[in-house]
Amino acid sequence: MNDVVLTGDRPTGPLHLGHYFGSLANRVLLQDLHPLYVLIADYQVITDRDLPGEIRRHTTELLLDYLAVGIDPAKATIFQHSAIPELNQLLLPFLSLVSVSELGRNPTVKDEIAHSSQSAVSGLMFTYPVHQAADILFCKGTLVPVGKDQLPHLEVARLVARRFNERYGAVFPLPEAMMGAQPLLKGLDGGKMSKSRGNAIALSATEDETAALIRKARTDAERLITFEEERRPEVANLLTLAGLCLGRAPAELAEEIGDGGAVTLKRVVTEAVNEFLRPVRKRRAELSEGDARRILAEGNERARERAVRTLEEVRVAMGF
Ligand code: TRP
Repeated sequence: MNDVVLTGDRPTGPLHLGHYFGSLANRVLLQDLHPLYVLIADYQVITDRDLPGEIRRHTTELLLDYLAVGIDPAKATIFQHSAIPELNQLLLPFLSLVSVSELGRNPTVKDEIAHSSQSAVSGLMFTYPVHQAADILFCKGTLVPVGKDQLPHLEVARLVARRFNERYGAVFPLPEAMMGAQPLLKGLDGGKMSKSRGNAIALSATEDETAALIRKARTDAERLITFEEERRPEVANLLTLAGLCLGRAPAELAEEIGDGGAVTLKRVVTEAVNEFLRPVRKRRAELSEGDARRILAEGNERARERAVRTLEEVRVAMGF
């Protein structure tokens, strides 16, 4: 198969274990099977917030997270929006292929508007899914590993590809979503795992920070530890986390902990997570900021070459 895989993240803060088990682990597998592009979507940060002063730090941290978990820059092309002006140039013809009412109907955009803290909704909020179509189509991506919230954006990319091909000739393959597992992990307080809620273990957390977070995790008053997802969601979530880190069944861990209570449970989870993160921390510690900058510059260059070629094809197809 000649699939090309593209996926990406907004650089808004450190990645956590939920990201790892939900998507990063899959990317590490995919990089051995297909050409893989990993996008640091920095232009997308300004859809619903002012560009934070820490954008550079967030970008470097995101890159280090990728490298630390084993995304290999010799196999995968890691790059950022702001280094590829051709993406912005693709945006303009792509925008002409989508109607205003189609842009307004996008459920993910609607949801983001509803939760935005900005007083006015920017034009970019409605048009960034078309820019995202350029992210996918510039490298002729065919497989896009994403969560459910991204499916409307994938539909936009397919629509743009289909209409471009109909109008100007066959240039783009139609990309397909590659759905990850539903979130396996909840946050340590039982809510949705999210960096902003302080209930997530960042991949860059130290051993002590990890231990402190797990110590504060919510459990219940029953001493006997059992794996019951419906009745005891917090305990089950901790068992799931340890199970993922150890590659073991959560129910089996519960049985071993038995009447050790929450104290033993948390000790088991802490050891499992810290053991799991040891090689990730080691790899991160071995990388300097200079390495990170060089790796990103190389990825940007490769991605840009690809984008230049596609933009040229687009211009020719359109008759410019
Ligand atoms: N919208 C994605 C997110 O918020 C990030 C993203 C930007 C992306 N461009 C992409 C994901 C292209 C997949 C493909 O997480």
